[in-house]
Amino acid sequence: MNVNLIVNGKAHPVEISPGDTLLKALRSLGYFGVKHGCETGECGACTVLLDKKPINACIFLAAQAEGYHLETIESVGEHPQQGWKTTSGLHPIQEAFVESGAIQCGFCTPAMILAGKELLNREPNPSEAEIREAFSGILCRCTGYIKPIQAILRAAAAARGEELEPFEGRIPASFDFLSDDDDSSTGFDSSLGEHEGDGPDGGEVIASTRVMPRIQVTPEVESWQRVGKPERKVDAVKLVQGKPAFASDLEKRGMLVAKVLHSPVAHARIKYIDKSKALVLPGVAAVLTWRDIPRVVYSTAGQSDPIPGPLDSFSLDNKVRFVGDRVAFVAAETEEIAIQALELIEVEYEPLGAVFDPGQALHPGAPILHDEPEYVNFAESDPSRNLAAEIRIDIGDVEQGFADADHIYEADYEVPKVQQVHIEPHVSITYWDEDDRLVIYTSTQVPFHARRQLAPVLGLPIKRIRVIKPRIGGGFGGKQEILSEDVAAHLTIATGRPVIYEYTREEEFIAARSRHPMRLRMKTGVKSDGTITANAMYALSDTGAYGGHALTVTGNTGHKSMALYVGDGDYRKSPNIRFYADVVYTNHPPSGAYRGYGVPQGFWAVERHIEKIANDLNMDPIEFRTKNSIREGELQPFSNAWSEGREPRPETIETCGLEECIRQGKAAIGWDQKHGNQGWHQVQGKPHLRRGIGVALVMQGTAIPYLDMGSASIKMNDDASFNLLVGATDLGTGSDTVLAQMAAEVLGVEMEDIIIYSSDTDFTPFDKGAYASSTTYISGGAVIRAAEGAAIRIRLRAASMFNEETDDQLVNPEDIRLVDRRAVSPDGRSLPLTEIALETLHHSDQEQIMGIGSFMSPVAPPPFAAQFVELTVDVETGQIVVGKLVMAVDSGVIVNPLTASGQVEGGMTQALGYAVSEEMVYDSQGRARETDLQDYHIFQAHEMPDLTTIFVETFEPSHPFGVKAVAEIPIDGVAPAVGNAVFDAVGVNIDINPITPEKVWRELKKMEDEA
Ligand code: FES
Ligand code: FES
Repeated sequence: MNVNLIVNGKAHPVEISPGDTLLKALRSLGYFGVKHGCETGECGACTVLLDKKPINACIFLAAQAEGYHLETIESVGEHPQQGWKTTSGLHPIQEAFVESGAIQCGFCTPAMILAGKELLNREPNPSEAEIREAFSGILCRCTGYIKPIQAILRAAAAARGEELEPFEGRIPASFDFLSDDDDSSTGFDSSLGEHEGDGPDGGEVIASTRVMPRIQVTPEVESWQRVGKPERKVDAVKLVQGKPAFASDLEKRGMLVAKVLHSPVAHARIKYIDKSKALVLPGVAAVLTWRDIPRVVYSTAGQSDPIPGPLDSFSLDNKVRFVGDRVAFVAAETEEIAIQALELIEVEYEPLGAVFDPGQALHPGAPILHDEPEYVNFAESDPSRNLAAEIRIDIGDVEQGFADADHIYEADYEVPKVQQVHIEPHVSITYWDEDDRLVIYTSTQVPFHARRQLAPVLGLPIKRIRVIKPRIGGGFGGKQEILSEDVAAHLTIATGRPVIYEYTREEEFIAARSRHPMRLRMKTGVKSDGTITANAMYALSDTGAYGGHALTVTGNTGHKSMALYVGDGDYRKSPNIRFYADVVYTNHPPSGAYRGYGVPQGFWAVERHIEKIANDLNMDPIEFRTKNSIREGELQPFSNAWSEGREPRPETIETCGLEECIRQGKAAIGWDQKHGNQGWHQVQGKPHLRRGIGVALVMQGTAIPYLDMGSASIKMNDDASFNLLVGATDLGTGSDTVLAQMAAEVLGVEMEDIIIYSSDTDFTPFDKGAYASSTTYISGGAVIRAAEGAAIRIRLRAASMFNEETDDQLVNPEDIRLVDRRAVSPDGRSLPLTEIALETLHHSDQEQIMGIGSFMSPVAPPPFAAQFVELTVDVETGQIVVGKLVMAVDSGVIVNPLTASGQVEGGMTQALGYAVSEEMVYDSQGRARETDLQDYHIFQAHEMPDLTTIFVETFEPSHPFGVKAVAEIPIDGVAPAVGNAVFDAVGVNIDINPITPEKVWRELKKMEDEA
């Protein structure tokens, strides 16, 4: 049928099928700012304005839109400089999003800007609650919503002609900001009376036009021009315009659509499969089953060589191991035909018996998931026992430590399977280029690993594959997995045509990866004075049907969380720590990488356990922690014992700002006024409510020592701009921006002079990819070296230009400073870099000034943090309302306070879901309960607590700019801090997260019955 759509004031006659959604129609017309994040109207990424009202285009039929005026992000504003053409520039809301750091991956940004625009049209002076309401239908998994809300507040304030706080400089942290700043209000007054405000829990209004976090600064930063400054994100301007920057925005002529047939059963052999009916369906180009493609065993986990996990996967197999496993691939002219074709594939399954409990999976006689002869072992894996990895680490003399103890504390804990929920689904486009090389255009965190690992699977040498990573709409570890690339690639090989394979939201739940669920047992020996004498953890980890991340994720569970508490006195010098783990195959969907990489699981057990011990010993929980926690100058106890299956080497903690983090965090949340204050725990006039406050200390790592390597190249252009090429992958974290800041600092230029490109395996140098919180540290180190290489040549050429001018004392190149786009000699003379660029490219001794650099670290310096929670528990219903989260973190030097605080806010928000609501549950047949974003609830803008971020800088000596990791640590401590706050509020211990109202209510009931 033909309809006439009016989009951004322009009429578009368009031919559609009656069932086509408006999302599909708009994207087919080239309006790529309208994004696909789900198919059920729940994520809001497809928001457009229909006669000025926001609607979800994915659940609105295109035919219904005829006669209405549609508005997409493409109409809102554009880049202010278009050559000789002047434009009206960006819309004030777009400007505010750019300058406020409101964009991380940017996938939700067009929707938020349109929603904000609609709000400001009807309410030029909106309250924070109104903005939250306007955003409530748009899910953002990256930001924690604070900065988008602040962007709208800034845009509204600017429109009212108000003066806005500038972004320059850094706001120092101070101990007394409880009293001096409304933004840091704790939601109650010092008289302990009830105080209701506009916040989500009745607390104060929590956001303002101020977007900068507080920083306890290191002196080194003061002398730098670009590093340490809140620079705008380098990709922000394109993202606020909704430019076609993401993988699914690529258009290729004749592109086929891929779909995958997923297993409806948890464990079975494919006895019979017939694709003949599907193949003859008009419009079907290819149907592939396990019989059609080479049988090559590999790991879907994108990691360095050799892969630290068993090889246990095939693109297609004659066996299925979970509900959602792959059975067949289809490529067709349209999505509808591909879906129809899936229904025509006939499959007969021979049931094999399934096992879902990791404990039972280890029992003799349990169904065996991996009996294939091609299986390649790693790290004590034993597929005949369903064991994907076994870890046994003993540090010191643990048994002696227990014998020394006055008290032994033992308890069991449990953590669930949870999903990354990046709003952009997995998506890949593959095609043959004119040189018969296979191009894989994909939303991946690991382009170089993907190329290397896919080569044997596809029957191609590495050199005939090119992987291009465009912008990524969030990853959080989910895109460290190679999941969509091989599907599209096999179908391109089969058909010779371009193919797109994009996950549906349901596929994200049933067929992608998720956090490892674990059962954890803690045993801790403590002297009566609070000295920990020995600490042991056993983890039973469910890797699901495949084990690509089995060893490394679960190893990190112990490696990071059990390293934090070493004991005191002599025990501090020689800690007694044990970490054992069994990582087990079950017929659940596979577990994989998710931000934190095993560490949040560990800290749930460690920090709940520590809290209980402190309480039992009648010690202050913070004093007990600091007495036993690791300090600067001490050995990371695991560094001599374990290194992801590689040779361990000793690492000393050079910087640890933990004590300062505790002091800052305590002040920000008002710990001293609240903890142990019975009056504060009561809520006046509401006897059914109790307040609680909780803390957790955490540490992470920064990259994998002696393994993770990043590299960069940089070249100087005629105008003294620089092309910086990095293999690093910015998945929304802002890493491209911080890498550009480091290059600009070294070269003495402005941010706009650095044109960064990431990443393309043909053009950008190698990088291990975005994981292990390593990009700022590892890839940043490489960028600095590359920029220094170019700077050396610039100084040499500048020196000879200075020396040509005079016979007096010659200028030494090493004494030349690069600053403000000039080369400055010690005698005060200076040359613009543009002059040096023209001299070297065109005038004499012509050369291309370039630099290359690689960086690998022998250490993985840990960031540290103190995370605090304040909440209210309803003793009648068990409901918890978290009112405030505070994180004070030592991540070394903060290169960009805006992007780094965005990481903390977003990480805390994901962690809050882990604490109170997120959980993937399966029925007795292994079928997922949660298959969409309605069943699986992530925090929405109107449900958020107050978030406070404080950076406590240290200068990490192993890095030129003193940086450590920031991306993962925010997710580690929120859940146990919530658990501890619940205990503080009502005296019940919840040891299995998430802490749902039902669990709290049941424990309260039990307590009441026992009383
Ligand atoms: S794509 Fe429309 S709401 Fe998710
Ligand atoms: S910035 Fe909102 S989903 Fe990534």
